[in-house]
Amino acid sequence: MQNPQPVAATLTSASVFLVATLDETLSDGTQIRELLGDMSSLVRGVGFRIPDGRLSCVTGIGADAWTRLFGTPMPKDLHPFEAISGVHEAPSTPGDMLFHIRAARMDLCFELAATIASRLEGAGKIIDEVHGFKYFDERDLLGFVDGTENPSGQAALDCTLIGDEDPDFAGGSYVIIQKYLHDLKKWNAIPTEVQEHIIGRKKLSDIELREADKPSYAHNVLTNIEENGEQLQIVRDNMPFGEVGKGEYGTYFIGYAKSPSRIEQMLRNMFIGKPVGNYDRILDVSRAVTGNLFFIPTADFLDNAPD
Ligand code: HEM
Repeated sequence: MQNPQPVAATLTSASVFLVATLDETLSDGTQIRELLGDMSSLVRGVGFRIPDGRLSCVTGIGADAWTRLFGTPMPKDLHPFEAISGVHEAPSTPGDMLFHIRAARMDLCFELAATIASRLEGAGKIIDEVHGFKYFDERDLLGFVDGTENPSGQAALDCTLIGDEDPDFAGGSYVIIQKYLHDLKKWNAIPTEVQEHIIGRKKLSDIELREADKPSYAHNVLTNIEENGEQLQIVRDNMPFGEVGKGEYGTYFIGYAKSPSRIEQMLRNMFIGKPVGNYDRILDVSRAVTGNLFFIPTADFLDNAPD
């Protein structure tokens, strides 16, 4: 298998999420392919200045951009993010490329983001930029610890990296992102015990509720999905973000998996409900404002991006 990108990198204190579009007028994608080919060297160049800063970047390519940049073959499950209309709406928004930058320090993320932005000039533009921060003990802005049940080590690689099911793209991965904005006044007016039922865990201690105590709409019931008796896992690295002056409080959801279908299933359970109507109550206080699906080629593919 070719070297994967660091999709299952361990959680960091800082991140920058850049979503970019390619210019409509882009005649050929040479400038972008050159940037992709240089990504690992840019990360090395910026990251080496702070050796324990753990700088990494995962680069994703959307379905339309893949066709424009690389033609065929196309990764088997790559398609534009499909909007969901249920009790709540999950929109599909523009985006040709994702740069998921992580580090122990924001200066590293910022420096790499600035370098990428300058290399995109004339060929693409950043249409969404979110700076995520660690909030106390890995909490989201709803106040719950977020990421506890993430698989780690080999289990994280097994659920994120494509294997024999798509041999041309083995070692690649898929990612779905959504930017959520929270109505914190509404959330904070909900009694803690009810919030704990919505999430399925205790708020202070992060202990999971007993199965018998979880309602069928608990977040960790609706997102716990199985196939042939086996749990279908994903790797998440959600980050809080916000701007207090604007009253903006958010969670940037990011989920990696070897196939997008398992994340799409979780989203249907959350937005439409399982059974229909039994939806995720997080969504009564959290509005998805973006939605994208990207393919994550291997690091080797990027290094040797065809001219
Ligand atoms: C678990 C928060 C969106 C998938 C959790 C937990 C929290 C949380 C607090 C429990 C701790 C943990 O295991 O990480 C949020 C927030 C979201 C959000 C604030 C957005 C506003 C999503 C979305 C998906 C998702 C969109 C998938 C499409 C999962 C999964 C788990 C989880 C798979 C682990 C369930 C288990 O097996 O226990 N989330 N989440 N989450 N979330 Fe989310």
